[in-house]
Amino acid sequence: MASIEDYKPGLAGVPAALSQVSHVDGLQGILEYRGIAIESLAQQSTFLETCFLLIWGYLPSLEELQDFEYEIRYHRRLKYRIRDMMKCFPESGHPMDALQSCAAALGLFYSRRALDDPEYIRAAVVRLLAKIPTMVAAFQMMRKGNDPIQPRDDLDYAANFLYMMNEREPDPRAAKIFDTCLILHAEHTMNASTFSARVTASTLTDPYGVVASAVGTLAGPLHGGANEEVIEMLDAIGSIDRVESYIDACIENKQKIMGFGHRVYKVKDPRAVILQGLAEQLFADYGDDRYYQIALAVEKAVEERLGGKGIYPNVDFYSGLVYRRLGIPSDLFTPVFAIARVGGWLAHWKEQLAENRIFRPTQIYTGEHACPYHSIQERKLTVGATSFAATNGKKL
Ligand code: SDX
Repeated sequence: MASIEDYKPGLAGVPAALSQVSHVDGLQGILEYRGIAIESLAQQSTFLETCFLLIWGYLPSLEELQDFEYEIRYHRRLKYRIRDMMKCFPESGHPMDALQSCAAALGLFYSRRALDDPEYIRAAVVRLLAKIPTMVAAFQMMRKGNDPIQPRDDLDYAANFLYMMNEREPDPRAAKIFDTCLILHAEHTMNASTFSARVTASTLTDPYGVVASAVGTLAGPLHGGANEEVIEMLDAIGSIDRVESYIDACIENKQKIMGFGHRVYKVKDPRAVILQGLAEQLFADYGDDRYYQIALAVEKAVEERLGGKGIYPNVDFYSGLVYRRLGIPSDLFTPVFAIARVGGWLAHWKEQLAENRIFRPTQIYTGEHACPYHSIQERKLTVGATSFAATNGKKL
């Protein structure tokens, strides 16, 4: 029987799996994918090679990588029924909701759950990695009233996504920086959306439902949604001389500062360090960004006030500045995070299946026992802030 001492809010510090996919040392600021430092992968690898490493657990030979890349290129297109479904989505809908719907819809076409068949696993990995970017770009075009742009097989993964976003072939330097951003966002041990993926995977449902669960989890502002909120924060601050008063007000009001803090890192997120370098590279190549100087001032102000509590920039603080300079709209920052994190979710899906036990934690019951059932005639209106009646102020 569990006791209250066993309860850990948010399962903080509670191991939920044995995993070899990635490792984080939050005090040293270390991140490794399958034992390889994120700095090495950012410098020398590509996103698809990194996904292969995460999912199959080793760096591919040239032939394996070429086969993998070819299969991904071949499967980028969407079924016309999924495109037709997207035509019914409201333009004002958030792209993460559109992506979650489309990811789940893939299961309608490929729902056979042969989870013990390596060919089925490989096909699901290829389809999800190949089609998720096409879905994000298609919704972007369709919400503007335009036809989606078909993928181009002559462009690599990163360049093709940027091309599908605006029908312009990207500068190779910009495409390379985007590919590096995808590597940085691909995997991060037992974060909320990966945990969600593992819980869903543990029921032996299909991988499309697993990814749909994870997308819904990533969308929240405390997780993947923070990168979009960082830009809104920098916009609200507006100038360097307003930074300190803004940050002081957040702290005063116990309002979380977006892009800062982490359950594991108590130093600057190593991915934020690399993303800041990519931002500076982009600004040198394509012109400065007025938000960057404000961001530097925010980082300094937060470090002075909260560094002692281990509150430093996380992966979401500088990523938005890079994506803005690449011409990606801010409400697509989190879908871009999802495009990358599909690699990590699939690696954990495969690892969960290898030694599965359905997740079913327990709880500490804090309610009452042996309560009587009152007939409808006996009942009085329940009043108070949390009652149903208290919420009927405005008609839906
Ligand atoms: C990602 O888990 C992962 O690996 C996630 C991720 C990945 O790659 O998957 O790294 C990606 O999700 C990055 C996080 C993006 N979210 C944000 O930037 C939103 C702002 N950050 C916070 O909401 C918060 O830092 C979390 C959610 C990231 C972590 O929350 P925790 O571990 O539950 O920390 P907490 O809320 O218990 O805070 C501990 C203390 C509190 O102060 P006290 O009440 O103890 O005095 O630190 C303070 C908090 O108030 N704090 C912050 C803060 N984050 C924590 N104070 C101000 N601003 C913040 N951002």
